[in-house]
Amino acid sequence: EKGAYPYYMLKEIDEQPTVMRSLIKHYTTDDGSVIIDDALLDSMKKADRLYIVAAGTSYHAGLVGKEIFEGLAKVPTEVHVASEFGYNPPILSEKPFFIFLTQSGETADSRQVLAQVNKWGYESLTITNVENSTLSREATFTLLLYAGPEIAVASTKAYTGQIALEAILAKRLGEEKDVSAATSFNVARELTTVANGMQELVDEKGQYEQIAANALATTRNAFYIGRAIDYDVAQEAALKLKEVSYVQTEGFASGELKHGTIALIEEGTPVIAIITCAKTAKHTRSNTQEVLARGANVINIVSRNLAEDGDQIILPDVHSLLTPLLAIVPCQLLAYYTSLQRGYDVDKPRNLAKSVTVE
Ligand code: M6R
Repeated sequence: EKGAYPYYMLKEIDEQPTVMRSLIKHYTTDDGSVIIDDALLDSMKKADRLYIVAAGTSYHAGLVGKEIFEGLAKVPTEVHVASEFGYNPPILSEKPFFIFLTQSGETADSRQVLAQVNKWGYESLTITNVENSTLSREATFTLLLYAGPEIAVASTKAYTGQIALEAILAKRLGEEKDVSAATSFNVARELTTVANGMQELVDEKGQYEQIAANALATTRNAFYIGRAIDYDVAQEAALKLKEVSYVQTEGFASGELKHGTIALIEEGTPVIAIITCAKTAKHTRSNTQEVLARGANVINIVSRNLAEDGDQIILPDVHSLLTPLLAIVPCQLLAYYTSLQRGYDVDKPRNLAKSVTVE
């Protein structure tokens, strides 16, 4: 029940620190070790490549998952949109392992790919929020998000839950393979820091309501930009905004703007830059200068350790592979408030259903 909340989306955004803590509780012990089924680990250990398959927001959680699995477990990882994989599968490696990310466990596009994977005889894992869902039953293994029901059509806590669970799994897999990035990564501690940081962000809601009112409430279009892991977040942030506010929004690799899309920037066009990746921060900032010079209304969402005077939204610092868990929170809130300010039903955007069970 949504209780005192006007909309489920806001409730579910607020629940994200709890989702982090619940994942820590379900998958780690007090001494910080990770509990993952041995059979699943054995199967993943044998794989020479991971294939993450998903749709929509879950696909975006997969994009971050690639960074996490490659960073912590050093296993090459590909991420595929389910509806594309279905009819145009890539050339597979010798020993593929498939990971299906799906909040509902019922998405038809993903089910179709899993049916094909089963026909090929490969093992698979479904990461889902719904026990006994179709994708859970049909995959070899399941890991549950324990996020509580997600009712709002716009997915929020499932996205952050999926990323956190990918980190837990990658930590354990990397440890098994003796990768130092994984052995030195205390996932329970890092996710606790994330939960605290998320709490700080959701406690400052008024700020985002104000930014939405100034920059997004009446705009025709908007951009989220970023590089590397920040580009992954930009894509999810854009989906969130367009889905609930109907503002045409693109999530763009910031360096790619100048290759054509910058032509769309006009006086006042909102360009929201995500800057959490130290390696690329300077470069994204130089892209914000390019759009500023063309009249854009630039809003920076920046990790505290990279912040400069004038940055509008500051994120608490967390491990470099987990920054999407924080960066997405203000973006979810911006989408929520923009939708409200435009007078829409936040939980039930037009033309959409909670789970897409047709191809
Ligand atoms: O249940 P799933 O995670 O498989 O759903 C996938 C997409 O349909 C879903 O994430 C959709 O993009 C959301 N409405 C996004 O907020």
